[in-house]
Amino acid sequence: MPGAFVNGGMPFTGKNRAKFWLFSLFFVSSSLFSYSRAANSISRGQFVRDGETLISPSGNFELGFFSPANSSRRYVGIWYHVSVKTVVWVANRDSPVSGDSGVMTVSNDGNLMVLDGNNGTVWSSSINSSSVPTNSTAVLMDTGNLVLLASAEADSASAGGDVSNSNWQSFDHPTDTYLPGMRVRVNSTDGENRAFRSWKSSDDPSPGNFSMGVDPRLPPQIVIWGQSGREWRSGHWNGQIFTGVPNMTRSYLFGFRLWSIQADGSRYFTYTPLNSSNLLMFRILWNGTEEQLLWDETSNAWTVLQEQPAKECDFYNKCGDFAICNEMDSPKCSCMEGFSPKSPDQWNRGNWSAGCARKTQLQCQDNSSRMDGFLKLDGVKLPDFADSVSTIIRDECEAKCLENCSCNAFAFDVGIGCMLWTENWIDVQQFDKGGLTLQIRLANSELRTESKISKLFIIITVLVGAFVLGVLVWLLWRFKDNLKGFSIFYRKNKKLPLLDNFVKNEELSAELSGPDGLARDAKQVGGADITVFNFSSIEAATNFFSEENKLGLGGFGPVYKGKLFGGQEIAVKRLSRKSSQGLDEFKNEVMLIAKLQHRNLVRLFGFCVQGEDKMLVYEYMPNKSLDSFIFNPAKRAKLDWKKRFEIIEGIARGLLYLHRDSRLRIIHRDLKASNILLDEEMNPKISDFGMARIFGTNENEASTNRVVGTYGYMSPEYAMEGLFSVKSDVYSFGVLLLEIISGKKNLGFRMLEHSNLIVHAWHHLKEGKGMELIDPCIRDTCSTDKVLRCIQVGLLCVQDSAVDRPAMPSVMLLLESKTADLPFPKLPRSTSITGSMDTCSLSESQEIESLNGVTASSVDGR
Ligand SMILES: *[C@@H]1O[C@H](CO)[C@@H](O)[C@H](O)[C@H]1NC(C)=O
Ligand SMILES: *[C@@H]1O[C@H](CO)[C@@H](O)[C@H](O)[C@H]1NC(C)=O
Ligand SMILES: *[C@@H]1O[C@H](CO)[C@@H](O)[C@H](O)[C@H]1NC(C)=O
Ligand SMILES: *[C@@H]1O[C@H](CO)[C@@H](O)[C@H](O)[C@H]1NC(C)=O
Ligand SMILES: *[C@@H]1O[C@H](CO)[C@@H](O)[C@H](O)[C@H]1NC(C)=O
Ligand SMILES: *[C@@H]1O[C@H](CO)[C@@H](O)[C@H](O)[C@H]1NC(C)=O
Ligand SMILES: *[C@@H]1O[C@H](CO)[C@@H](O)[C@H](O)[C@H]1NC(C)=O
Repeated sequence: MPGAFVNGGMPFTGKNRAKFWLFSLFFVSSSLFSYSRAANSISRGQFVRDGETLISPSGNFELGFFSPANSSRRYVGIWYHVSVKTVVWVANRDSPVSGDSGVMTVSNDGNLMVLDGNNGTVWSSSINSSSVPTNSTAVLMDTGNLVLLASAEADSASAGGDVSNSNWQSFDHPTDTYLPGMRVRVNSTDGENRAFRSWKSSDDPSPGNFSMGVDPRLPPQIVIWGQSGREWRSGHWNGQIFTGVPNMTRSYLFGFRLWSIQADGSRYFTYTPLNSSNLLMFRILWNGTEEQLLWDETSNAWTVLQEQPAKECDFYNKCGDFAICNEMDSPKCSCMEGFSPKSPDQWNRGNWSAGCARKTQLQCQDNSSRMDGFLKLDGVKLPDFADSVSTIIRDECEAKCLENCSCNAFAFDVGIGCMLWTENWIDVQQFDKGGLTLQIRLANSELRTESKISKLFIIITVLVGAFVLGVLVWLLWRFKDNLKGFSIFYRKNKKLPLLDNFVKNEELSAELSGPDGLARDAKQVGGADITVFNFSSIEAATNFFSEENKLGLGGFGPVYKGKLFGGQEIAVKRLSRKSSQGLDEFKNEVMLIAKLQHRNLVRLFGFCVQGEDKMLVYEYMPNKSLDSFIFNPAKRAKLDWKKRFEIIEGIARGLLYLHRDSRLRIIHRDLKASNILLDEEMNPKISDFGMARIFGTNENEASTNRVVGTYGYMSPEYAMEGLFSVKSDVYSFGVLLLEIISGKKNLGFRMLEHSNLIVHAWHHLKEGKGMELIDPCIRDTCSTDKVLRCIQVGLLCVQDSAVDRPAMPSVMLLLESKTADLPFPKLPRSTSITGSMDTCSLSESQEIESLNGVTASSVDGR
């Protein structure tokens, strides 16, 4: 603990002088044993005089009077308590105290104040005194935050760091420095949030010409403003990085996160250092440079981790509108393809300010048959002032741009969605790595020259390629016996395909490979935190989708087991390309599950899109699915009655959450044993939301032409009329419950007298032979009352009429209560029909295999 005792003690007013002596005695004596804590707070009537300081509890920060270099004026500030004093906050930045007679105090009205030698107020926290308790205390926290709290709360806040009840805090009134823990608000209704303002000069803390903050226009970005407007911008935030800072890597910028608070729609940025014990800050210097500093303990100095703008092209719109700046080129500025300098003379003299203009106007307006097209620019900092449109499909983005004549460019990024431009393209930069792809709209005539060149290029490539291929084939044939080891070698060294637009640089792809960690999971899709994995990391994790890693075949494609870079095990569901519904289902599942958080629902870590390929990445469930236990003679004994009942309860809770407790009302539509996955402790988790439907809160029932689901679990009204509601899930749950207890499949069930499990169960219960239904493995361990009760609840759930079935809240209640009266279920009649309706055609059923009972064993992935 540095600074066991501080410059000067803690002085008190006259009437408290006795206390003061006691206080300082305590300090003096305890400092002898060097475990003392310096004061970190002042209460009403107490002072911090010039020369005295407060020190935060663990000694990170110090507050007191200081003078900048070359100046004798006194300011109250906070600085990191290290050997090189770097001020992070100034109270009276534009009204210094002359001389060393200034004091800081908590005044009688509860405000924090800086007074000069004549008791004149130089600075005040200026809170409305009628809303502040008059005996508040100012506390210097370990985060560097100076907080004004009601006295009673000061101690606990100081220890626990909770400042939510504060009346005022310096983090809400920053000067030129961002400290970890601060929140930088992003609020489109408030306009530009110029949170940080530079000093006027290196020795004058008064507000200078530059400010730094967040552009409220979504997607947000960090902007530096000078006197004449924007000086620099970070590029749009894509949930992981600022896309205009191509070398943004783990080493320094990693750790930004954009938080969305649902309640009032507010969002804010935070930054968390990789190592929480690092001393770190971002600040805007008096000359307009933003820099990030890290305290280096070994050299006892601040290291500059990064500064912006770093290069000439980083300066805002260096080359003018519709031009592009490339650091590698000479001259650095050039007009975009299809554009020419607006004033060629000035341009050739190196005066870029006028920018460029279109050579050929777009044809959109004159309604001629020739359409405009798009030209791709890879690896660029996208123009400023985009309108973002949420869609997770690229094609929709292009269509959106085409349909609006004023749209002149678009870009698509999985983390941001679709961005459209209608204004001039401002501040575009060409990167040699990183960046995104901009699709600029050009008249067809401008594009054709381009395509002539590319046609020629393609022809040459094809000819050369064919020749090389011929030689290779010949070589392979010639030396085929020598090449036994080749295929293995090839697989291991398979060249990674081009990464998504989203990540081009290698360093980043390493960071994206794990869902654990700070900013990695901060991808925003539809308001939910979710990771976008890049294809190469998924390939590496699943050993290039090898057969050994294949877990099974799900409804929409194979499921693979994988292991990420960091050791995290995952299950990857690769949606089959031929599946016509794949894209919808994919969207549906991603958006849905990302928003759902419940211990009985399988967790979605993220997704991956690579061209046509779409993949969902889930937590891996070592025990696979429920059907692999209850229907497997070798393994069914592992689930005793207690465990089975817990599983039933778990499923019911998960379903209850879907139906009622999540913010959306969700009908799963395909609840079955193979969609219940088990974790290490055999806790059930509902999976496979590919067919789930979201309902509005006042919508109760819907119908569909596309009946999807699995035979044996579908309620009669859904199978026959396509009507589904929460009650169709209740039906499936009832079937599942009976299966768990009996260890028999509803579908494959054939007894002489009864055509399916449900009817069989009903008759047994009716005749008082309920115990005969129960899986012999659990007959001895179970409690008869409870099992019979469960069967009865199960049968209530599978009654023919949806109205008769209890809803999930009542199901929960009936299962758990020992006393509640149970009605006797009605005989399920139409299920006895469905048992023999194998010929009934289900339109476009995804689960055709399930008609012969195959799915139950083949979907046991994850
Ligand atoms: C202070 O608060 C009171 C009541 O909350 C209000 O009437 C008064 O106008 C406020 N004064 C200022 C200066 O904001
Ligand atoms: C002042 O603070 C004490 C606790 O420190 C509290 O008991 C008291 O009610 C407060 N007085 C006023 C006027 O708020
Ligand atoms: C800030 O602006 C003023 C007025 O335009 C100018 O005189 C001064 O040099 C500027 N300071 C810096 C640091 O650019
Ligand atoms: C974090 O930083 C501290 C001090 O700088 C160092 O001792 C510690 O090893 C670091 N921890 C990690 C995980 O890097
Ligand atoms: C640059 O060009 C603009 C017009 O294109 C002109 O107004 C401006 O004076 C020029 N600047 C210089 C330094 O020549
Ligand atoms: C453009 O042409 C189509 C058919 O050629 C016509 O239906 C449409 O009205 C035209 N739109 C305008 C704005 O002229
Ligand atoms: C085209 O986009 C602009 C800007 O977003 C918008 O104001 C306008 O209404 C759009 N026009 C059409 C026809 O959608």
